[in-house]
Amino acid sequence: MNDPDAYSALDSQRFGIRVFRAGPDNVEAVAELMQFARSGDVDLLILRCPVAAVAAAQELERAGCFLADTLVYYRGPTSGFTASPTLPGCIRLGQEADRAALEGIARASFTGFFGHYHADPRLDPVAATEGYVQWASSALDDAASLVLVSETGGRLSGFLTAKKLNAKTWEILLNGVAPEFQRRGIYAALFREVGCRARLQGASEVLVSTQLANLAPQKVWTRAGLELDHALYTFHWWKA
Ligand SMILES: CC(C)(COP(=O)(O)OP(=O)(O)OC[C@H]1O[C@@H](n2cnc3c(N)ncnc32)[C@H](O)[C@@H]1OP(=O)(O)O)[C@@H](O)C(=O)NCCC(=O)NCCS
Repeated sequence: MNDPDAYSALDSQRFGIRVFRAGPDNVEAVAELMQFARSGDVDLLILRCPVAAVAAAQELERAGCFLADTLVYYRGPTSGFTASPTLPGCIRLGQEADRAALEGIARASFTGFFGHYHADPRLDPVAATEGYVQWASSALDDAASLVLVSETGGRLSGFLTAKKLNAKTWEILLNGVAPEFQRRGIYAALFREVGCRARLQGASEVLVSTQLANLAPQKVWTRAGLELDHALYTFHWWKA
């Protein structure tokens, strides 16, 4: 745990504190981690623990960590993504000219989100939302990322970002639909489009994750043939 890679520069800059991240999956790892955290220059620990590692999760609770969310990961074959989406308007690649609108959608859709940042009352919720905005926007600058956007009635209504994990798997990373355009099937259409693109480019599966409490995307994924693959608890721990 003295690994400098565990220091999260992004989180630290965003919240103006020293944040470290780790993924302990056994009791010994938790003990080592907490020793480092108590003696080191740490304000906040963000910890991801497999739900199957119950002993480690209980040890984290005993150490004063609190549950901030539960991430569920779904995986599924691209072979079922054969039809193009039937969506009024269009889905296309995002470009520089879309940046302001894309950021606006991310800001509106991730305000008060289910994730661990918003679940921690000590973290500024506006800064937490801006983290998602920055994440979505940065995909436009990353040649390895795919950014899809949807247009509805001449306005940008939603976005989806994805990345090739390896030759076999594409990971779908961040999606948002503007609140005024939600519940019209836009997310389902964006998801189908990325599945089709992954299949056509030779990927055999997609991987995607969200918070357990976030039901809308899980409905879309199960209907598209994806299955629950694994899950992680997110714990937070504050030194003082
Ligand atoms: C999740 C999100 C992208 C869904 O977008 P959307 O375009 O409204 O989704 P769809 O219209 O395709 O709806 C998919 C299904 O989820 C349902 N749904 C939509 N919003 C829901 C909600 N808040 N609660 C429960 N179900 C919901 C829809 O009714 C639909 O199910 P149905 O066919 O049985 O009616 C959108 O709510 C959003 O931007 N949320 C905030 C950011 C987020 O959660 N991103 C995803 C992270 S993985």
